[in-house]
Amino acid sequence: MVWDAFRLAELQEQFDTVLDSGLFHVFDDDSRQRYVEQLAIVVRPGGRYLMCCFSDRQPGDWGPRRVRQDEIHAAFGEGWRIESIVAAQFEINLDPPVAQAWLSTITRL
Ligand SMILES: C[S@@+](CC[C@H](N)C(=O)[O-])C[C@H]1O[C@@H](n2cnc3c(N)ncnc32)[C@H](O)[C@@H]1O
Repeated sequence: MVWDAFRLAELQEQFDTVLDSGLFHVFDDDSRQRYVEQLAIVVRPGGRYLMCCFSDRQPGDWGPRRVRQDEIHAAFGEGWRIESIVAAQFEINLDPPVAQAWLSTITRL
C-alpha cells in the first residue's frame, strides 16, 4: 500500500515497528514535526521506529538535507526514547556509491 506519511492517523491502525529509509530527511522543519505527530499516533507504546537518514557527516550539499543528531533528539523529545543513533551508510547509485547516514532506534513511550 502507498500512503501519505502526513495522513497515517487515517489508517486507524497501530504498529510494533515502523521502518523509515530516507523519508525523515526529505522534510522541512514544519513537515518534520507534522510527520512525528502522525508517527506518535500509529506506533503503539513500546513500539519501535527505526530511521535511516542522511547525516551531517556527509560532505557537500547535493541530495537531501543533512541531519544532525541533536535534530533527531529535538524531533523525538516528549513521548519517545532514543535508544541509539549510530553511524551508517546508504548505498547509492553515484560515485562514490555511499552516503553517510544516521541509523536511529527510537521507542514510543
Ligand atoms: C529519498 S527517497 C527514499 C526512497 C527509499 N525509501 C530508499 O530508501 O531508497 C524519499 C521517498 O519519500 C517519498 N515521500 C515523500 N513525501 C512523502 C509523504 N508525504 N508520504 C509518503 N512518502 C513520501 C518520496 O516519494 C520518495 O520515494
